[in-house]
Amino acid sequence: MKKLQQIYEGKAKKVYATDDADLVLVEYKDDATAFNGLKKGTIAGKGVINNKVTNHMMRMLEKEGVPTHYVEELSDRETLVRKVSIVPLEVIIRNISAGSFAKRYGVVEGITFAEPTIEFSYKNDDLGDPLINAYHAVALGLATWDEIETIKKYAFRVNDFMKKYLIELGIRLVDFKLEFGKTSDGTIVLADEISPDTCRFWDKDTNEKLDKDRFRRDLGGVEDAYQEIMRRLMGN
Ligand code: TMP
Repeated sequence: MKKLQQIYEGKAKKVYATDDADLVLVEYKDDATAFNGLKKGTIAGKGVINNKVTNHMMRMLEKEGVPTHYVEELSDRETLVRKVSIVPLEVIIRNISAGSFAKRYGVVEGITFAEPTIEFSYKNDDLGDPLINAYHAVALGLATWDEIETIKKYAFRVNDFMKKYLIELGIRLVDFKLEFGKTSDGTIVLADEISPDTCRFWDKDTNEKLDKDRFRRDLGGVEDAYQEIMRRLMGN
């Protein structure tokens, strides 16, 4: 597999073409941003951890019947994935109130819901990723109703699996964000990443935050939190 020219650079990852037109190479950076890029920093070792944690999750999710873009981990920071066009929706599942949910509805963080919730944001940096409903997403041509139904089904399946898996490791899955892509034949697959950047993880016993909120909120101990997640999931 040959790594060819860079085709995209996002806030946390770079994407490179390969000599196979159906595959691209993702490279994870240590760069961290928050608040739509307003806050910038570096989290040492984050790229390696997010690469490994994402791949670990995706390999397990494939077995749970969630198709993903994952193909092969190539190095500490590099993974081969299927080339997809990203559906421009951030799919957010919540089990416990936190973050923008707590702020929007004026409730404290930490309320456990009887059932998980789902919401979508329109992935558009210029607009600041506004909340969007399914009718608006269809009206804007971002996805079809069938695609939205498939995405919802997979997102709840991801939640069911991850919640059970993580609690055994002493981690409460508060909420998380997924992105989906479409392969050249139109199949919807889970894409992007599943990591402490894109999930809220709280320690089961202490409720200590083990995720990017430590960076967003200047809580300190950012690197240690990422390391701790890696250690609990992969034992190193
Ligand atoms: P929120 O409470 O700020 O809406 O975040 C919900 C979840 O989505 C949380 O687990 C963090 C994740 N997230 C991202 O992955 N990317 C983002 O740009 C934002 C704002 C949140």
